[in-house]
Amino acid sequence: MIGVTFGAFDPLHYGHIRLLKRARARCDFLIVGVSSDEYIRKFKNREPFQPLKKRMETVRAVRYADLVFPQEIMTTPQRAKESFLRKIKEFRIFVGSDWKGKFSGEGLGCEVVYLPRTRNISSTKIRKWSAQ
Ligand code: CTP
Repeated sequence: MIGVTFGAFDPLHYGHIRLLKRARARCDFLIVGVSSDEYIRKFKNREPFQPLKKRMETVRAVRYADLVFPQEIMTTPQRAKESFLRKIKEFRIFVGSDWKGKFSGEGLGCEVVYLPRTRNISSTKIRKWSAQ
């Protein structure tokens, strides 16, 4: 079974590592989509803290990520996921529980597994600390 997950990883932290580890344990090959800079500007309404190239290089270094690709803007977050996933026959998406009810990958015709979000850590917190 192929597993797929998405994120900005801006910057990568322990909560991401735990998400990737648990997702990888539930599939045979894990594909990780990293939000492009434009995607972050459009859907997170902020400037990227680190550019896509650096974020992809960081995620690629994680042993649980078998393949890393840039999640580009299409028209909507769902279209962006769809265009890539159409190429894969059978897959399962893993995403943190904070996305329940608002994840754009619902309705793509595959199982979406929500993994409990790791508490007390987020990229937002790290960006704030680094700005102090
Ligand atoms: N995630 C998690 N536990 C955390 C933070 C993130 O399990 N403490 C999961 C998210 O649910 C998502 C993936 O990691 O499935 C990528 O999330 P991302 O948005 O890149 O991380 P955040 O830390 O939530 O980023 P931000 O604070 O910028 O929104």
